[in-house]
Amino acid sequence: MSDRSVDVAIIGAGPAGLMLAHLLRREGLSTVNVDSRLEEKIRRTHRAGILEHGSVEMLSHEDLNSRVLSEGHRHDGIDLRFGGQSHRVDFQALVGESVWLYPQNELFHDLATAAHRHGMDVRYNVTEARPMDIESDSPGVYFVDEGGTPHEIRSRYVVGADGSRSVCRASIPEGLRRHYVSEYPFAWFGILTEAPPSAPELIYARSPHGFALISQRSADVQRMYFQCDPETDPNSWSEEDIWAELQKRVEGPDGLRLKTGPIFDKTVLKFRSFVCDPMHHEHLFLAGDAAHTVPPTGAKGLNLALADVRVLAPALAAAVRDEDERLLADYSDTALARVWKAQNFSYWMTGMLHQEPDENEFNAARRLGELRAVVDSQHGKAFLAEQYTGWPDTPASAV
Ligand code: DHB
Repeated sequence: MSDRSVDVAIIGAGPAGLMLAHLLRREGLSTVNVDSRLEEKIRRTHRAGILEHGSVEMLSHEDLNSRVLSEGHRHDGIDLRFGGQSHRVDFQALVGESVWLYPQNELFHDLATAAHRHGMDVRYNVTEARPMDIESDSPGVYFVDEGGTPHEIRSRYVVGADGSRSVCRASIPEGLRRHYVSEYPFAWFGILTEAPPSAPELIYARSPHGFALISQRSADVQRMYFQCDPETDPNSWSEEDIWAELQKRVEGPDGLRLKTGPIFDKTVLKFRSFVCDPMHHEHLFLAGDAAHTVPPTGAKGLNLALADVRVLAPALAAAVRDEDERLLADYSDTALARVWKAQNFSYWMTGMLHQEPDENEFNAARRLGELRAVVDSQHGKAFLAEQYTGWPDTPASAV
């Protein structure tokens, strides 16, 4: 039952878990990733599509052979749309940065394919995965493989990158762990459609009918969302009704018309802001959605997960190679400093652009004032641009 041992056992083989494994491989550390999902299922999971420049840098390392720069699309700004008019926020002019449209499933494909190529140990489709003995000097991970055989892999450290329903999180004793939660009275109805792009960049639209986001995937596939009730059944909406609803929300005197086509994917995405503090207990470290989730407005979730492992990897390497745990001791504070900035940004963007179900007239008009205050000000737009494109890494000592 006791297998080989590794430096770092990672529960989760999504973007955070796999990116961490790659960063550690470069540092010469050995890893194993275990994930309850089938590799194919993760490949087919549609999530956000916007990468900050810091995320693109991580992905464009030559040993990943990623197509982010060849297939991804650089976006130098977004449109904020309200009162039926679009207002461009020009990231390049304001803060000299861009973001890249590159869907999460493509990013996963790059990381998973590179993991195979480098002969990394990644076990998909496992059951009962959980951390073991994280308070001892010989922690590890327990799981049952797809053939039904139980395994224990010992390690120096365990990382929980096991998503928003994290099992690992529960290993931080309740008395030492604090959860911060905010719920929202709406969700997003997301579609994928075979149609040409309706706009060259993303349009975030506020309208009296609610929020809509016009995003893209490629020359022939587009991604769009509109605010809906969290209990909406995606199958209860016909294609015709979906297009009518989206069009209504971007309607304006400039005559913006969405280019329509067959819809081949419909999902309802629930909203939740969540933070687990600390992200660390003894030999266990949390990364990505296991420790925090944000509402999707502003596309911070995946970028935050990658930012976590950018901090965690050198800290684990210093601990394993040099027996120096100082960076690991700072990990949670360093990561949480960015997490709370992103929580604020996602909450702010969500509030500014969405319609509360029972919103009073004062608040509806005030929100338009808020949007005006942003787009009529260079400083306002620069503030948004800085946050959207991503903050520089800040060491915990400066937090
Ligand atoms: C996408 C999703 C987001 O949440 C966002 O803010 C921007 C883009 C997308 O899926 O394309």
